[in-house]
Amino acid sequence: MERHDMLLSPAGVQALRTALDRAGFTSNGIAGRLGPAATGGIARNDFRAALRATADRDPLATLIRVFICGQTESEAVVAAALAPLPIADALAGGIVERHGDGLRAGVDLEPYGDDWWVLADLPASARPGRPLHAEHVLGIGGATQTLIGATMRRPVATALDLGTGSGIQALHLATHARRVTATDISERALRFAATTAALNNQDWELLRGDLVAPVAGRRFDLVVSNPPFVVGPGTTTHVYRDSGRVGDTIGAELAAAAPGLLTEGGTMQYLANWVHVAGEDWGERVAGWFTGTGCDAWVIQREVADPMAYVNLWLTDVGETADPQRMAAWLDWFDAHKVEAIGFGIVSLRRSGHADPVVRVEDLRQRVEPPMGDRIAAWFDRQDFLRVRDTDALLAERYRAAEGLQLRQEATMGDDGWAVDRQTLAMPHGLRWTEEIDPLVLAQLALLAAAHDVPPQELAEAAGPIVAHLVERGIIEPVTT
Ligand SMILES: C[S@@+](CC[C@H](N)C(=O)[O-])C[C@H]1O[C@@H](n2cnc3c(N)ncnc32)[C@H](O)[C@@H]1O
Repeated sequence: MERHDMLLSPAGVQALRTALDRAGFTSNGIAGRLGPAATGGIARNDFRAALRATADRDPLATLIRVFICGQTESEAVVAAALAPLPIADALAGGIVERHGDGLRAGVDLEPYGDDWWVLADLPASARPGRPLHAEHVLGIGGATQTLIGATMRRPVATALDLGTGSGIQALHLATHARRVTATDISERALRFAATTAALNNQDWELLRGDLVAPVAGRRFDLVVSNPPFVVGPGTTTHVYRDSGRVGDTIGAELAAAAPGLLTEGGTMQYLANWVHVAGEDWGERVAGWFTGTGCDAWVIQREVADPMAYVNLWLTDVGETADPQRMAAWLDWFDAHKVEAIGFGIVSLRRSGHADPVVRVEDLRQRVEPPMGDRIAAWFDRQDFLRVRDTDALLAERYRAAEGLQLRQEATMGDDGWAVDRQTLAMPHGLRWTEEIDPLVLAQLALLAAAHDVPPQELAEAAGPIVAHLVERGIIEPVTT
């Protein structure tokens, strides 16, 4: 089995754990010490109240000041807070670093969940002017949390995290998978992941290599990945962001790998970016990734950015905003490839084993009621319901409206009273779909239903796809008796 070094020796990690535990440096411990106002301030990068509440410099106060508020503290105080971890070991492992005549955080040591800690590099914003390491290990960012929220948390035997970085996805997987494997191309990242695992008393199989190469020939019940999905000319400066693949090919590569990586019925979920090319349907382009995979696929586009905003975002992320040449080269590449926009979203796949897998690529930019993972799991359940019913069977079921379903109408006053121009079904919960219902289609269906001489087959043909669509979106639900 591959062994990966950690930032500290095994005994050092346990000593760090003892220090953090003893001090109560957990999310709840910190919230309890600081109270809601100071905790809320921290979330907005306003540390004033937190600093006032930690003036005592007892161990918990010191850890909050150093690892949350970014302060430099005296060596004696930091050593006391980290004991029994020798301060020389903390310095050698990069947990803290010298700054002026004191010590400050060398890594992002983040209390997370109820009683976990995640180790990562400090973000570019924490050390302005200091270039990010090429193998920068990402902390808990927005994309990280999107994947955490979107993951279907059903019990599985085996789970794989591709591109584990700090190990945060693996931490979550261990709550519902019996065995967790995590890979990364970066030895540095694996050092952080191994430390995160040990610090949380977890045991994962850690493997180094390019995407699925380290697990070739093996299958998993659940695969998750927050890969380096950033789209561009294929230049790699930072491995957490750049895959070295040109354009959006990493998304297609992961889709193509799914059938060889998943057990029957297994699921794979990953974040991806895709380009919107002038004159091309972005949805068809992304749907093409799943051709021949035999997997059901649901792709939801959560955000769309124009090239300028996109390049700015990712240059800021690595603290490289002042590099006009890099920006120009990136934008030129987008121009040359007629890229008008870049979409960001979540890909969920299931190896269904059916000859006619369902592939749906759609915009879902509304705010969704969490947990997203449960919504995605329910979507696959609904596909199972639809798959085994032909139109007659579908129409023979009884349905009820989704909880709280609303019908919103726009109407214009005319000579004969109100005439409905537009009506929309709106789900106030769950995926919060709004669905425009064409008044004409509904009227025609009503007419067909009312006219006794209309063959039932004609009615079924008209109603079947509408019912199937409303079921798929969860707007109507089968009533099970
Ligand atoms: C966006 S970070 C995600 C980190 C973490 N899983 C998360 O969700 O926050 C992408 C990770 O993929 C790793 N990576 C980059 N290219 C890779 C490749 N070709 N194969 C495997 N891992 C790769 C990077 O080192 C980095 O740790």
